[in-house]
Amino acid sequence: MKPKNKKNKILIIHGPNLHLLGVREPHIYGKFTLCDLNKELKEKVKKNNLAVKIIQSNSEGEIVEEITNTNYEFLIINPAAYTHTSVAIRDALLGIKRPAIEVHLSNIYKREEFRKKSLISDVVLGVITGLGKHSYLLAIEAAICFLNSTPRR
Ligand code: DQA
Repeated sequence: MKPKNKKNKILIIHGPNLHLLGVREPHIYGKFTLCDLNKELKEKVKKNNLAVKIIQSNSEGEIVEEITNTNYEFLIINPAAYTHTSVAIRDALLGIKRPAIEVHLSNIYKREEFRKKSLISDVVLGVITGLGKHSYLLAIEAAICFLNSTPRR
């Protein structure tokens, strides 16, 4: 049981190559850096009186470990390229009892065929794709609505 006065915590995971934001295909992913994005995400979470942990990892195993640590109430994950390949991340999400949202900066349905398949989408609450940084900001809003309407564990 979480003490009554403890803030709900959101875990935000950025998958592989998202450390390259700003440099990597800016016409697709935008000109902002990961640091700029995280600053905005932290501000939004703070305004809403929630706690947040944000990580970026290029390693599938590390992402699985972060997901399954379950030291959080809500997960927002951009699995990046692992979206299309990772049975391990899918199984981790199936193994935890935590609500999660999959986000993408680009619209994965508007791009190459191989990006249209997500191994993650059917094991999370929902997907926000194609809205740039707003995909994450809207996911935080959804997390707030969800956490406010769900009794505390
Ligand atoms: C991405 C889309 C993926 O297909 C790609 O591999 C990424 C980023 C996005 O945020 O648009 O690395 O998840």
